[in-house]
Amino acid sequence: MLADQLKITQADAFVLYLKAHFYHWNIEGPNFPQYHDFLQNFYQDVFASVDSIAELIRTLDVYAPGTLSRLQSLTNIEESEVIPDAMTMVKNILAQNNVMLETLKKGYDMAEEEKQFGISNFLQDRIQAHEKHGWMLRSITK
Ligand SMILES: [Fe+2]
Repeated sequence: MLADQLKITQADAFVLYLKAHFYHWNIEGPNFPQYHDFLQNFYQDVFASVDSIAELIRTLDVYAPGTLSRLQSLTNIEESEVIPDAMTMVKNILAQNNVMLETLKKGYDMAEEEKQFGISNFLQDRIQAHEKHGWMLRSITK
């Protein structure tokens, strides 16, 4: 069901946002300012998408999830309390960005199938945004 997939998408975006913000706070190293700012741009974009995804769920007349425990049970994004070195943080965000992309693509296919073109259009934009994030994250790791 499309609404269920959107709930997973909302949870993924929220947990990915939080992970990037967590790393923004705790990253260390000689390139701290660049990493700190890069992560801020990332988490701000992803956080902004959470509200839009939740409102799409409401357009389907389904209630959007809104507790940490519920979002945690829905998400595919891997959480960790460990604070690794900067490069490991970037690689971790890159891997989870790929998880986010898989979730978005699955939702896109379902939306197209159900002729929910407003929703597929939004998901397409998010796929593009996360592909751009992926390019930047990959470039840092090279
Ligand atoms: Fe900050």
